[in-house]
Amino acid sequence: MDKRALAKEAILAKENAYVPYSHFRVGAALLTKSGKIYRGCNIENAAYTPTNCAERTAFFKAVSEGELEFEAIAINGDADDYLYPCGVCRQVMAEFCNPSDFLILLVNNEADWKEYTLEQLLPGAFTNADIEKVTCR
Ligand code: THU
Repeated sequence: MDKRALAKEAILAKENAYVPYSHFRVGAALLTKSGKIYRGCNIENAAYTPTNCAERTAFFKAVSEGELEFEAIAINGDADDYLYPCGVCRQVMAEFCNPSDFLILLVNNEADWKEYTLEQLLPGAFTNADIEKVTCR
């Protein structure tokens, strides 16, 4: 995996951010196991709650194209710092990714990022396995 290239894609993905309310652009680049990269940006809404984060935009674009196997995501926000994914986006990652090997790159700039596994950022995620444990129906 070319992490520097993925970091660059996350920075470029910010360009299409639709952020008339927060003016805070976020970009994400999601790498599939087959080597494809899906970009995502945040898309805000006048009613606020329909806002979609960059990470989820990237996931939903990829899943809607039939992708279900993911290796890593790079995320870059407008702040001069590392941007951690929100809890909702972490939960979406948990639906599709292996917690111990899916990599999350928090990109400060093209040459500076921090790496975490999904498990490190969302320990004890609620998944389909928990639903299967139902004892009464
Ligand atoms: N945002 C993201 O796109 N990803 C995150 O992980 C955190 C927050 C967006 C949502 C909203 O458009 C703006 O950043 C401010 O919250």
